[in-house]
Amino acid sequence: MSSQKKESWIWWKHGVIYHIYPRSFQDADGDGIGDIRGIIRRLGYLKELGIDGIWISPMYKSPMVDFGYDVSSYREIDPVFGTMDDFMELLGKAHDAGIRIILDMILNHTSNQHPWFIESSESLASPKRNWYIWKEGTMGTPPNNWKSAVGGSAWNLDEQTGQYYLHSFFKEQPDLNWRDPELHGVFFDEMKFWLDLGVDGFRLDVINLIAKDKKFRNNPVLLGIPALQQHVYTRNRKRSVTVVTKIRELLNSYENRVSIGEIYTHPPGDVKTAARYLAGGENGIHLAFDFSLIFSTWNAHAYYKSITAWYASLPEGGWPCNVLSNHDLLRSIDRFPWRTNREEKAKVAATLLLTMMGTPFIYYGEEIGMHNTHVSKKQIRDPLGKRYWPLFTGRDKARTPMQWNPEPNGGFTTGKPWLPLNRDFSSRNVKQQEGEPYSLLNHYRNLIKLRRSHEPLHRGSWLPVTNGQRGILAYFRKTGEERMLVILNFTGRQKTFSLPEHSYGKVVLSTHRSPGEFNYFQHMQIGAFEATICLVSE
Ligand code: GLC
Repeated sequence: MSSQKKESWIWWKHGVIYHIYPRSFQDADGDGIGDIRGIIRRLGYLKELGIDGIWISPMYKSPMVDFGYDVSSYREIDPVFGTMDDFMELLGKAHDAGIRIILDMILNHTSNQHPWFIESSESLASPKRNWYIWKEGTMGTPPNNWKSAVGGSAWNLDEQTGQYYLHSFFKEQPDLNWRDPELHGVFFDEMKFWLDLGVDGFRLDVINLIAKDKKFRNNPVLLGIPALQQHVYTRNRKRSVTVVTKIRELLNSYENRVSIGEIYTHPPGDVKTAARYLAGGENGIHLAFDFSLIFSTWNAHAYYKSITAWYASLPEGGWPCNVLSNHDLLRSIDRFPWRTNREEKAKVAATLLLTMMGTPFIYYGEEIGMHNTHVSKKQIRDPLGKRYWPLFTGRDKARTPMQWNPEPNGGFTTGKPWLPLNRDFSSRNVKQQEGEPYSLLNHYRNLIKLRRSHEPLHRGSWLPVTNGQRGILAYFRKTGEERMLVILNFTGRQKTFSLPEHSYGKVVLSTHRSPGEFNYFQHMQIGAFEATICLVSE
């Protein structure tokens, strides 16, 4: 790479981010739960994969009601994950390997065990009373009809002071009051603490939920059914965007830091709402997850529609980021329908993820095609699964231990794993796929390498060639003189693909063709579930 190119490499924009659920990545101390020393041990693997940064789900001190999304101290590492020294070692070693570290920042709520909440609960006159959202009930009922995202009222009565507090999730996760200036300042100091240590940015948990209606108006309900609540007064309030603007100001006072917003919209794919937080790419957060790929059905046209809607909604200067799975949803490989050709579909999806415009996020294990794992009632750990079993068995199935090798417990732990491994670990694991040139893992590695070495793939414009209607999604990525063509066949049938005019194409990566293959073509036969990337000239 020339030095000029190096200078304009923006890691969070042009690079690839890997998402680690730390309980399940690698256990180093044998207690059956993944930890920081485990991540350190696997830095070599991540370097080899070619990623630029890792987002690690929360590792702060926590009673673990929601496995770390209930924080009781933002400045401490929970002993289950290790110590602050371990964290500093990870940060240093990751940086030495050219890998950035993004922490999860949970602004909407703390744990009810956080000293702030304990003090806030002490009395109506507590100096921290207003740091949380407290309210009188009306004649023995909660203050209004707001529902928690996990079901039931979002209000919990505190017997001691006779008031209710708001919790958008579990009652052990009381909501912070982002209208209180003191809380605002104190919380920003928690973020500064990590930025000063050298952390490269934050994934902002449920950032569109943090502000609620000042007047506490009832949310409208559909068909008179309380569960069908429209979160008009509890989500996407203006103040959430204001806080996001302040976070951006804070990050701008450091070098090269990033913020990524988790913004689920209802209906899924309401990308205009998600895009509001990007505010022109300069004042808002750097990236907002677009979950529409996750909710899209396996169909080239459906993908085309959600991708174009997302790109069209981006404000000037805004940059997309794309994701196929995360710790809250089913693993992508099992969402592809019919349970057939899943490996091939996973390669098509990976090619899309890594060649479409925007920053790709890879959920740990996705690169080896890890499946959802059956977790029996007795083994369920997710509080959502416990509450709703058997209607909903929870999120554990996408959080099971990383499958490193065919040894006992897949090389994840020498102890008893906190969640069972998928039964296929002895045949589906990193070691085995490293040895197979055409494995999914090697496909990911090759794609990441290619993406890095070809400007159009990491920063080029996106010019669709088809709208996916005949099963093929094809698009150009283009910078200056260089053009790359990506052709993805979402169907199990051979298809004819046509360009508007004759072109020269050289295959650079393909599931069906040899690299270097040269073609002068206008019409081309594309195999079932083929993913091909060509360098193209007229
Ligand atoms: C986010 C997290 C999820 C957590 C919730 C509450 O959606 O991704 O795991 O349960 O926030 O913090």
